[in-house]
Amino acid sequence: VKSLKDVDLAGKRVLIRVDFNVPMDAHYNISDDSRIRAALPTINYCIDHNACSITLISHLGQPKNGYEDRYSLVHIQKRLERLLEKKVEFIDDLDTLKAQNSHCSAERIFLLENIRFFQGEKKNDPAFCKQLADLCDIYVNDAFGTSHRKDASTYGIADFAKIKVAGFLMMREIEAFTKALENPIRPIALVVGGSKISSKITLLTSVMPKIDKLIIGGAMSNTFLKALDHDMKASLVEDDFIEVAKEVLNEAKAHGVKVYLPVDVVITDSIESPVDIKVTPAQDVLEGFHAVDIGPATLKLFSEAIELSNTIIWNGPMGIYEISQFSKGTFKLASFIADSYAYSIVGGGDTADAVEKAGEKEKFSFISTGGGASLELLEGKILPGFEKLDRKES
Ligand code: 3PG
Repeated sequence: VKSLKDVDLAGKRVLIRVDFNVPMDAHYNISDDSRIRAALPTINYCIDHNACSITLISHLGQPKNGYEDRYSLVHIQKRLERLLEKKVEFIDDLDTLKAQNSHCSAERIFLLENIRFFQGEKKNDPAFCKQLADLCDIYVNDAFGTSHRKDASTYGIADFAKIKVAGFLMMREIEAFTKALENPIRPIALVVGGSKISSKITLLTSVMPKIDKLIIGGAMSNTFLKALDHDMKASLVEDDFIEVAKEVLNEAKAHGVKVYLPVDVVITDSIESPVDIKVTPAQDVLEGFHAVDIGPATLKLFSEAIELSNTIIWNGPMGIYEISQFSKGTFKLASFIADSYAYSIVGGGDTADAVEKAGEKEKFSFISTGGGASLELLEGKILPGFEKLDRKES
C-alpha cells in the first residue's frame, strides 16, 4: 500500500486515525503512553512536511451510549502536547472542527473527542464516514491496534477519502508480522499462552502450516493437559474445548509441528489469598489446587526449544503474571526470548505488558501495539483498516 512517504503533504489538511486507547487510572493518569509515543513519527512527519492542519482521531475504551467523562480524550491532550512539544486544540464536535479546519493557513493540530461518542462510528454509517472524509485532503490510517475493526474512522472513511495511505506505525507493524510469518528464518516457534483456547482457536488452526514448534503455556495449557487425561483438579479448564485441543494436537502432528506442553506447574490452594504454593509434575496437581504458572522443568524445556529457533512469535502469558508469586514463568520466558538470537515478535495486550514489566522490552525485535489486531494478522486475515488504502502502482 501507499504510505505517507508517497504523498505530498504540503498545504494539505491531513486526518490521522491513531490508536490512543491507553490505560488510565481512576484519576485519569495515563499509566502507559506507548501507543501515543508510537504515533509520534507519523504526526511529526506531517508537521515537518508542512501539512497545513493535522486532525487526530481516536477512540478510548468502549463507551456504549455517547459521552462518558472517563473515556474523554481531553484526558490525553496534555500528554500529547508534552510529547509533541506543540499546542494541540481539543474539539468535541464535528461542526466546530469543520469550521476551524476549513481555511487552513497556519499549521494546527486538532484532537477530536473520542470518536466512539459519535453514533456513526461503530455503525460505520456512510453519511458519517463522508463527514469525516470531508475534513481532510489526505486520510492516514496509523491505528494499527484498531485496524481489525470495521468502524467509520478505520474502514468506511476510505470509501470517501480522496487519498488514503498508511502511517509509519501501521507500516512497521505489517512489515514485522510479514517478516515473522511470511518470510521467516526457520525454525519458527509460536509461543501461546493466556487463559483461553477459545480466543485463540482460529490462530491455532490457521498457523499450523507455517510453524515448526508450538509452545503452549498459561491456563490454556490446562485444557490441553486435560485432553491428555491429566486431572487438573481446581485449575481453570475449558471443558467445552477438550475435543478442540485434541484436534489441535492431531493437526500439529499432521503438519510435523513439535508441541511443547508444561511438564510441571506451580500450584496454589487459592488464587486470591495463597497460603500453600508448590511445584508438582503436570499430571499430579493436588486436590483443590489451581495450576497458575509453569514450573522450572517446563521453563528449561521451553527455553531449549526457544534457543534452537530463529523466529519466535509470542502471544499470551505463561501464568497469572499480574500476581508476583505466579509471574516467574512469564518473566523468565521473556528473558530467555530476549536473550536469544532469534527474530522475536510479541503480540500486544497482556504479553507486551508482561515483557515491559519483566524489563526486557528493549531486547525484543518487535513489540506490537495491537492485541486483537495482531492476533488477526497472525491468523492470516487481511485487516479492514489496511484493505482499502491506496495501492502503489506496480
Ligand atoms: C485495543 O486496545 O485492542 C484497540 O484499541 C482496539 O480496541 P477495541 O477492542 O475496543 O476495538
